[in-house]
Amino acid sequence: MEVNINRLMNDFASVTKHNRTPGQGFTRYSYSEEDKRAREYLFSEIKQLGLSVKVDAIGNIRAKYGDPSKPSIMIGSHIDTVENGGKFDGLAGSLAALEVIRVLQEEKLELTQPVELIIFAEEEGSNFGIPLLGSKVLTGKYSIDDLKAIKNDANQSVYQVAKSFNLNIDDIEKDQLQASEVAAMIELHIEQGGVLEAKQKTIGVVQAIAGMKTIKITLEGDSNHAGTTPMELRRDPMVGASHIIAYIQKAAKEGALPTTVATVGKIASQPNMPNVIPQKIEFYADVRDVDLTGVEMVLTEIEQKVEEVCQENSLKGEIELVGQSKSVKLASRIVDLIEAKAKEQELPYLKMNSGAVHDAVMLTDVADVGMIFIPSVGGKSHSPLEYTSEQDIKTGCDLLLHVVKELVTAKQVTKTTS
Ligand code: HGY
Ligand code: MN
Ligand code: MN
Repeated sequence: MEVNINRLMNDFASVTKHNRTPGQGFTRYSYSEEDKRAREYLFSEIKQLGLSVKVDAIGNIRAKYGDPSKPSIMIGSHIDTVENGGKFDGLAGSLAALEVIRVLQEEKLELTQPVELIIFAEEEGSNFGIPLLGSKVLTGKYSIDDLKAIKNDANQSVYQVAKSFNLNIDDIEKDQLQASEVAAMIELHIEQGGVLEAKQKTIGVVQAIAGMKTIKITLEGDSNHAGTTPMELRRDPMVGASHIIAYIQKAAKEGALPTTVATVGKIASQPNMPNVIPQKIEFYADVRDVDLTGVEMVLTEIEQKVEEVCQENSLKGEIELVGQSKSVKLASRIVDLIEAKAKEQELPYLKMNSGAVHDAVMLTDVADVGMIFIPSVGGKSHSPLEYTSEQDIKTGCDLLLHVVKELVTAKQVTKTTS
C-alpha cells in the first residue's frame, strides 16, 4: 500500500497555478482570489471521493471519511502562503492528507474510526499578522468581538474579510472543535530548516514545537523637512527603530537561551518619503523558543530598550502583543507510533523539535498530536527557493499513510490528552 505520487504531483500543479506572483515564488493569501481557485480544485477532488465538504466560520476546510459519529484521526495542514513564499510549506501536508484518504478508500479498508482531512485558513497570518489564526479560532481562542477588532493593513477586520469571502463568521462558537470530535491529529510538513539535510535523514519525527510571541512596536517622533531641520533638533523614530532592531538581534543571540530566535521582518514608515523625517515607525518582532523562558527574556530586554531609546530620542513608544502560541511537547503515543513505522520501513529518521510554528500546536488542547517532517533542500523556506524532492514527498506521505492506517484499523483510539 503506497500513495500515488503522480496523482499527488498533479494536485501540486493544480493548486500552485493559483499564485499572485508567478516567477517570484508563491503568494496565495487566505481569502484571496488565488485561495478561492485553489479551494475550488480541492472541493472537486474531495467530492470525487464522495465526501461532503464543510467550510467552517473562519474558512477551515474539513472532510470526514468514515463513521461521522466517531472521533476522527485528523490529518492536514494549510494552503496559504507568505508573500513570495515557497511551493511546499503547508501544501505538502494538505495534499498528502488528501492522497492518504484516496488510498485508504481504494484499499477498501474497514475503518474503526474516521479519517478527517483538515485544511486550516490563515496559518501564515499574511493578512492580519497573526499566525495560526484559523486553528486558533477553531479551538476557541478568539471571540467575535476580537475578530471585529483585528484589522489588516487596509483596515478591514477579520470579520469583514470573512464575510466578504462568504463565510458564516458568526458561527465561530458553533464551529468550535470539541474534544469529542477528534482523537488524534497528525500534520506532515516540510522541515523549513536544514537539520534533516545536514544529518542525511529523510524523516523528522517531531517531539516538540516552539512557542512564539509577535509584538508590534510603534515609535512616534516629529516629522519635519530633511534639509532644514538641524540634527540636534530632531526627534527621529527611524533612528530609534534602528537601535532597537539591532538590539533585538543581540538580545536573542547573547541575552537569552541557545534555542531562542528573534526576527524583525516587517517595518513601515510614515510618511515614508526620502526627504521627510518620519513621523511614525511601526515594526514587528517575532520571538520564538521551545522553552518560552527564552521568549520572555528577549521581550523583557526589548521593553527596557524601547524605554531607553524613547528617552534618548524624545520619542513616544508603544508595544502591543499581536499574537502568541505556546510551546508544546507532542503526544508520546503518536510520536512513538511515527517512530515505529519509520523503523518498520527502515527510513533514516531523526527525532527533533520544530522551530517553525504549526496549526498542530492548537490541536494539542483537544487531541493527541504528532508531526512528520520531510527535508527542505538547503534549509530554505518562506522563499521562492523552497524545495523538497518528489522522492522525499513520497517517503513522507507513505509514512503518514501507514501511521494513519494503524490508527484507523486498530481498536478505537481514545486520546491520552487529559
Ligand atoms: O512562521 C511560521 O513558523 C509558520 O511557517 N507560519
Ligand atoms: Mn507552514
Ligand atoms: Mn510558513
